[in-house]
Amino acid sequence: MEKILTIDDMGFRGKRVLVRIDINSSVVDGVVQDSPRIKAHAETIKELMDFGAAVIILAHQGRPGDKDYTNMEQHAKLLSKYIGKQVKFVADVYGELAVSEIRKLKSGEALLLDNVRSVKEEMEKLKPEEFAETEYIRTLSNEADVFVNDAFSVSHRAQASVVGFVNLPAVAGRIMERELTSLAKIENPEKPMTFVLGGAKPEEKLKPMKSGRFDYVLTGGIVADLFLIARGKNLGKSNKLIESKYKDSLAAVKGLISENIKTPVDFAFDDNGRREITINELPIDKDIEDIGTKTIEEYKNIISKSKTILVGGTMGVVEKKSMQKGTIEILNAVADSGAFTLIGGGHAGESLEEFGIAADKFSYISLAGGALITYLAGEKLPGVEALKQ
Ligand code: 3PG
Repeated sequence: MEKILTIDDMGFRGKRVLVRIDINSSVVDGVVQDSPRIKAHAETIKELMDFGAAVIILAHQGRPGDKDYTNMEQHAKLLSKYIGKQVKFVADVYGELAVSEIRKLKSGEALLLDNVRSVKEEMEKLKPEEFAETEYIRTLSNEADVFVNDAFSVSHRAQASVVGFVNLPAVAGRIMERELTSLAKIENPEKPMTFVLGGAKPEEKLKPMKSGRFDYVLTGGIVADLFLIARGKNLGKSNKLIESKYKDSLAAVKGLISENIKTPVDFAFDDNGRREITINELPIDKDIEDIGTKTIEEYKNIISKSKTILVGGTMGVVEKKSMQKGTIEILNAVADSGAFTLIGGGHAGESLEEFGIAADKFSYISLAGGALITYLAGEKLPGVEALKQ
């Protein structure tokens, strides 16, 4: 395998270091929630600050137009809390303000630039060398000596701040290093292998299914809705959302239907509190927000027979207390299964503490969601490829 250099391979004293981290977290009523990602990346940044680097941090939160899209001011405060030193928020990414603040930065200090996704070029479909030519990446490259990619969890995105710094020496940060080392351990899993697959962003979650690696797939959330609709079920209100927002995924799902992909047989919705209905009572003019009690039992049965279990996403809308039941019960069953268990990032991993489930009951908790899934599908991650020498 091509070698990936790490922080240990580079001297940082007096260097100006651009660090891409992924502190994309849940946002509830405009408040960015403290998250394991923020805590973990704070360690990498602290280490670089302690080495005497001037640390320029790049990160994103949500996507323009989405509810969780915000600037990075609150993230800077949370990072500062974990580092024990101020991480200054700069309300700019590469304009005059950003450049002047970067130039003022001293060794041992850190600043967090604004949401990189506020820059139009960040998510354009360009090659790494083309990104490097943009004013955005050129400006930042000129202000730095080294690029550290610590963001395994966004390395499945060929976006400017992930793959564009081709003109700087690049190394993997501590989190990137840990994720790659730990995931390499599940190359030859013990069978049966089960994938608990829920949450949002279905397009990438479908990828590992195509790989045929999983003996069972237990679906929840949007993924479950997709499979049900593809099998001809009318869910009611949820159909409209799926058919407008996830048209492509729906088409992809049609080619994936198989016996080992399990879908819910009952559901919960919000009717001034949790109410459950069976599949035969659909359609319903409400959003489906969790799997129901019978589904939980069926899924637990499969979990108890599994030897390797991967959890990628929640079973329901866990932001609502009344809709946490499916996710909590499934996570508890996975934790007690005795199998090799791996939790993918996003909300399932983030919320363990809130759910009262001890993190050390799982074999490995990855901070990545979509990136982990892309990795498990056997696909290359552009951000990781960019680090290979
Ligand atoms: C994630 O939360 O999985 C990463 O931050 C990537 O976010 P994205 O799916 O919006 O690109």
